[in-house]
Amino acid sequence: MPTIESMKLADVHDIPNPGSISHDAAGKFRPYNIMLVRNGLDIKAYVNSCPHTGAPLDFVDGRFLSPDKQHIQCTTHDALFDINNGRCLAGPCPGQSLKPVAIEVINGEVWLAD
Ligand code: FES
Repeated sequence: MPTIESMKLADVHDIPNPGSISHDAAGKFRPYNIMLVRNGLDIKAYVNSCPHTGAPLDFVDGRFLSPDKQHIQCTTHDALFDINNGRCLAGPCPGQSLKPVAIEVINGEVWLAD
């Protein structure tokens, strides 16, 4: 597994628009999974761990959006999250948020930021 410092996560055009994918990463202490959510040129990244229980949000690998594609949705108990800031808007985790992951988009490629 590539290290954090050198990790390219995806090509922008490989992320559905609007849509999402997941990507495994090597953390400082253990591997983790990142969700990448795209809407046009805007791409957000969060750790794929629901603040309610810590479970991954996606039953189907890489599908994180609600049916109307307006929110991130956890498939376990249907919590809805704001795509722009990861804040829980509805469901069993009020006041909690997804953990953001710093990324950079460089020449059409999404990279983990330092
Ligand atoms: S595990 Fe995500 S809402 Fe319960």
